[in-house]
Amino acid sequence: MPKVTIDNIEIEVPEGTTILQAARLIGERNAADRHVVPPTMCYYSSLKTSGGYCRTCIVKVTKGSDKDPRPMPKPVASCRTNVMDGMVVANTTDADLLDARRAVTEFLLINHPLDCPICDQAGECHLQDLGYEHGLEASRYQFERRTFDPIDIGTTIKLHMNRCILCYRCVKVADQLTDGRVHGVINRGDVSEISTYIQNVVENDFSGNVIDVCPVGALTDRTFRFASRVWFTNPVDAHRDCPKCSGKAVLWLKGQEVLRVTGRKDQWGEVEDFICNECRFEHKDLKAWTVEGPRKIDRHSVIGQGHYELKRQQRMLESAAPNVPELNKAKQPDR
Ligand code: SF4
Ligand code: FES
Repeated sequence: MPKVTIDNIEIEVPEGTTILQAARLIGERNAADRHVVPPTMCYYSSLKTSGGYCRTCIVKVTKGSDKDPRPMPKPVASCRTNVMDGMVVANTTDADLLDARRAVTEFLLINHPLDCPICDQAGECHLQDLGYEHGLEASRYQFERRTFDPIDIGTTIKLHMNRCILCYRCVKVADQLTDGRVHGVINRGDVSEISTYIQNVVENDFSGNVIDVCPVGALTDRTFRFASRVWFTNPVDAHRDCPKCSGKAVLWLKGQEVLRVTGRKDQWGEVEDFICNECRFEHKDLKAWTVEGPRKIDRHSVIGQGHYELKRQQRMLESAAPNVPELNKAKQPDR
């Protein structure tokens, strides 16, 4: 099995593993080493052919392999580059690479509006995190930004094309999870845009997952828009018997009110089990769910600052949900 060293940490991985997957394995082995994991905006492990669009995951390969130790001449997309035996990679330990990632961030922000104060994705936005970590204080871009009117895609999803970074994740979801995709990217280059053909409605049992995979606020849940800043809500794991999906979701509560239902995301921000639209949009009553316990939010952005302590959540849930028998026994998995 090939051995790769990322930011001076070595790991042995199965043949065919990408640099990004190897870095995630290091992060999963020891949470203190998670800094070796490059940020991702377009790669999504459960979506085939995702990755290769955004370039945020670039790394510097300072040694190609034991057989051919020459460094790679330019940064490579870690989500699309397989490890070779003896490869040495820099993610956070190389100043030039960090500069290159800053440049990628600047490009992504050329057209993206800084409307975080009114965007529903604030606190959960991967571009917001990337901007804080690698962004410049001010934009150097002097030309007019692309602007589009927001459009409704069906009754439950809103598209803000201004915010889209063309990561293609929603297109992959529509392709791979739904039957009969009616949206995609039209045009090329700086006039590319996500479009539904003649604003066709995306009505499909799993179409709501485009909201969860969108790394920015380009696709938002119309049933949750402007209902609350996400860090003022209390997320809990809950499930229901669902014939269409696993029924495992996160309920975002305010008091007894279910403001929003989403899929459960892992430590890399990816949905563990895609949920159906019925679970997502049609069961906003706490009684329809069995609450398992508080969701630990492990994000370094503002949403992670909510400190969803078990006690606070228990108090809230005990008063809010009579159908939470196991709550006191709830033990928190580290997600
Ligand atoms: S709408 Fe969101 S998920 Fe779709 S391409 Fe744009 S940024 Fe990506
Ligand atoms: S995550 Fe690798 S190119 Fe976007």
